[in-house]
Amino acid sequence: MCIISIKNLTKQFDNLVAVDHISFKVKKGEIFGLLGPNGAGKTTTVNMLCTLLTPTSGYAKVDEHDVYKNKVEIRKSIGLVFQEPALDSYLTARENLEFHAMIYGMEKKERNKRIDEMLNLVELKDKADELIGNFSGGMKRRLEIARGLIHKPKILFLDEPTLGLDVQTRRHIWGYINKLNKKEKITIILTTHYLEEADRLCDRIAIIDHGRIIVTDSPHKLKEKLGGDIISLKINNNFSRFANELGRLKWIREVKASKGNMNLFLTVKEGNRAIPKIVYLAQKLKIKINEIDLHKPSLEDVFVHFTGSSIRERENNGKLKLENLRKKMVPAK
Ligand SMILES: Nc1ncnc2c1ncn2[C@@H]1O[C@H](COP(=O)(O)OP(=O)(O)OP(=O)(O)O)[C@@H](O)[C@H]1O
Ligand SMILES: [Mg+2]
Repeated sequence: MCIISIKNLTKQFDNLVAVDHISFKVKKGEIFGLLGPNGAGKTTTVNMLCTLLTPTSGYAKVDEHDVYKNKVEIRKSIGLVFQEPALDSYLTARENLEFHAMIYGMEKKERNKRIDEMLNLVELKDKADELIGNFSGGMKRRLEIARGLIHKPKILFLDEPTLGLDVQTRRHIWGYINKLNKKEKITIILTTHYLEEADRLCDRIAIIDHGRIIVTDSPHKLKEKLGGDIISLKINNNFSRFANELGRLKWIREVKASKGNMNLFLTVKEGNRAIPKIVYLAQKLKIKINEIDLHKPSLEDVFVHFTGSSIRERENNGKLKLENLRKKMVPAK
C-alpha cells in the first residue's frame, strides 16, 4: 500500500525549475531515500510534501491527503527534521520536546510519557535536563529526530539526517533510524548526498539530479542493472584517445569517462581477466595508468552510470561555479 504518491510534481522559482515533473510512490513502512548532489531539488521536494511549499504543478498525496487542499491533515500525519538545525539552545532537551508536544496539543500526562519514550529511543534520557547549547552535533540531531516523533506521526521526513557529522556518529544515527522504522513501524523519507547512507539505510532510492528523478529502485537492484564488474582507472595522459579505444572493444560493456579528474569507469563481465588486456593496451598506446581498481558495482558506480559523473565531482563543479560567481561579484578595486 502506498502512503505517498506523487506525479509530475514541479516547483519553479522565477526562472529556475528546482523540481521538474518528478513521480514516485512510497510504500507504507518503507525507508525511501532521495539521493542527489547539492541543489538537486531534495529539500524542495520534501518541503512540498510537508506542505511548507506549494507546488507549481503536479499531483501529490501524503497519507491519502492532497498537498494543495489538506495541509492541516498532512501536518498531523508527518514529522519533519529540517536540514538546518532548529532547536532552541536556551532550553533543555526535555523543554524542547515539551514545547513541540504542546504545539500539537498533547495532554500533560501523555506528553510526559511520550517524551520519556522518545528520549529513551535516542538514548538521551540521562541528558534530559541539560541545555542544548552544551550538546554535540550528533546529540542535537538525535534530539531533533526524537522531536519529530513526539506526536506519533505516520511518516517521518529526515532532510539530510547526518549532514556534517563524523562517520562514527553517522553510523549511530543510522542505528536509531533503523530502530524507529522497525519499532515504531513508521515510514521514513530521507534525503542525502551520502552514498553509503542511502545504501545502508534505504529500502528504495530515487536518484535526483537537476530537479529530475533519474531512476528509482532498491540499492541492490540498481547495482544489478549495471551488469558486471567495475574497473576504474586514473589516467595520466591521452585521456580521450584511450577512452575512444576502450569504447571500441566489444568485451567492454560500457565506458564512462570523467575527464575533469582523468577517471575512466569500465563495466566488464569478468574484471580479473580484463585488467591484463587493459594494461597491455595502455602500454601499446603509451598511456600511463596512475591507479587501477576492480570492484563489484557500488552505489557510486550506479550514480556515475545514470548521471555521467560522480556525486563528488558534481558537487565540486557546483562549488567552483559558486566561487567563480562570487569572484565576479567582488567589486574591482
Ligand atoms: N526559496 C527559493 N528561492 C529560489 N531558489 C530556491 C529556493 N529554494 C531552493 N532554491 C533553488 O532550488 C534548487 C534546489 O534546491 P534544494 O534546496 O531543493 O536542493 P537540495 O537537493 O536540497 O540541495 P542540498 O544538498 O544543498 O541541500 C537550488 O538551485 C536552489 O538554489
Ligand atoms: Mg537540501
